[in-house]
Amino acid sequence: MADALKVGIAGLGTVGASLVRIIQNRANELAVTCGRAIEVTAVTARDKSRDRGIDISDIAWFDTPEMLAAEADIDVFVELIGGAQGAAANSVRTALERGLHVVTANKALLAASGVDLAAIAEEKSVLLNFEAAVAGGIPVIKALRESLTGNTVSRVYGIMNGTCNYILTRMEKEGLSFADCLKEAQRLGYAEADPSFDIEGNDTAHKLAILTTLAFGTRIAADEIYLEGITNISIEDIHAAADLGYRIKLLGVAQKTDSGIEQRVHPTMVPHDTVIAQVDGVTNAVAIESDILGELLMVGPGAGGDATASAVLGDIADIAKSQPGAQRVPVLGTPAAALAPYRRAQMRSHEGGYFIRLTVADRTGVFASIAARMAENNISLESIMQRAKPDVSDDTSKTIILVTHATTEDSVRKAVDAIKAESYLAGEPQVIRIERPKAF
Ligand code: NAP
Ligand code: HSE
Repeated sequence: MADALKVGIAGLGTVGASLVRIIQNRANELAVTCGRAIEVTAVTARDKSRDRGIDISDIAWFDTPEMLAAEADIDVFVELIGGAQGAAANSVRTALERGLHVVTANKALLAASGVDLAAIAEEKSVLLNFEAAVAGGIPVIKALRESLTGNTVSRVYGIMNGTCNYILTRMEKEGLSFADCLKEAQRLGYAEADPSFDIEGNDTAHKLAILTTLAFGTRIAADEIYLEGITNISIEDIHAAADLGYRIKLLGVAQKTDSGIEQRVHPTMVPHDTVIAQVDGVTNAVAIESDILGELLMVGPGAGGDATASAVLGDIADIAKSQPGAQRVPVLGTPAAALAPYRRAQMRSHEGGYFIRLTVADRTGVFASIAARMAENNISLESIMQRAKPDVSDDTSKTIILVTHATTEDSVRKAVDAIKAESYLAGEPQVIRIERPKAF
C-alpha cells in the first residue's frame, strides 16, 4: 500500500471537529477505498485547551494556521477557519505556494480570491478542492466542474443557505420568531461565525459567485450580485404567500441574458407545488439548466458539521487517489487564465412576476390610484386584493396585495416610487419577486 496521506487541519470548530472524528472512526474503510491511509498529522485552532469532543492528543499542534501551512510535515492543508482575509487567506496562499494540495469549505475566501488562488494551484500543479463551499454536502461543484463539461449552462439557481431556509421554514410551520429560529440555527452549527452573512444574503452571494464561474466560465464577480436578505420578511408575508399558493425561499439565481449574466440573491416566492418550494429546514437545492442534459436538481443537507465534513472528506479522498504529476482538472472548471471577464446584466432589466404588499390608509380612491400607477408603468395585474390588518385594533389602515404578470424590475420600481409619492401609504411597501422553476 502507498504511504499514508498526511493531512493538516486548520480550524477545529463545527466542521473541523466532525472531520477529525470521521477520519479517525473510518480509518480502515478509507484506507481500502483510497488505496492508502488518510492520517491527520497536524492541527491548529485558536484555543488549544478547548474540549472539542475529539482526541487530538497524538496529533501535532501548531500555534497558528500560517505556521501549520508553512512548516507541518503534510501533503494536504485543510482550511476550516472561515473568512475572506486573515489567517484563512494567508495560510491557504502559503500552503499552495509551498506546493501542498488544499481543501477548503470557505466560500467567502473563494468569492474574494478564488481566481488568484486557482492560478497558484494550477501553476504548482496541486489540487484546490472546495466541494463543501457550496450547498454543504451536495456534490454540486463536481457536477458543474466535471460531469457537465460540454453542456452550455443557461441558468443555475437554488436554495444555498441552510440557516435562512431553516428560519423561513420554522417561522412558517411553527410560527416561531425570526430571532428564536436564528438562535437555534446557530446552536445547531448551521450559521456563519457572523450570522449576518447568512441572513443578509452574503453567504448565498458568495456561493452563487462560485457557481456562476463554474457554470459560465467567467471570472468571479461576487460584488456585482444584486443582494437582498431575509430580515425584512415578516410572518404576514409568509402567510400571504401561502394564501396565494406560494412559499418564500431565499434563492440565488444566475442566468444568461442577452445583455449579460444576471446574478441575484433575494427572497423569492415559488409556487407551492414545485419541488423547490417543498425543500425545508437546513436542506439545500441547486438546479442547473443546460442544453444537452436539460434540467438537473440536486437536493440534500446544506449545512452542519457532518454534512459539510462529508464533502471535505470526499475532496481529501480525491487527493489520496490522485497520481503525483497527473494532469489536474482546472480548479474552476476552466483554467484560471482563460476565464472570461464577467459581463453583468442590469437588475432593472430583470423580467418576472412580482408580489407587492402595501399598507395604506383606509380611504376612498386608494385602490383606483394603485391600479392607475400600475397601468401607467405597463404592469398587468394577475390579482389585487385587500386584506384586513392582522392587528385588529388598527382599523385605520388596510393591506393591499398585488400580484403582477411578468413585467420588468424597472417598471415595478417606478410604479412603487409613484405610489410612495402619494399620501396614503402607511408603511414601507414590500416587494418580493416570483420565480417559476422550469421543471421543478
Ligand atoms: P466554526 O465552528 O466557527 O470554527 C472555526 C474554527 O476556526 C474554530 O476551531 C476556531 O478556533 C478556528 N479559528 C478561527 N480563527 C482562527 C485563527 N485566527 N487562527 C486559528 N484558528 C482559528 O466554523 P465552522 O462552522 O466549522 O466553519 C468553518 C468553515 O466552513 C467556514 O469557512 C464556513 O463558512 C465553512 N462552512 C461551514 C458550514 C457549516 O455548516 N458550519 C458549512 C459549509 C461551509 P477555536 O475553536 O479555538 O475558536
Ligand atoms: N452558514 C451556511 C448555511 C453554512 O447556513 O448554509 C453552509 O455553507
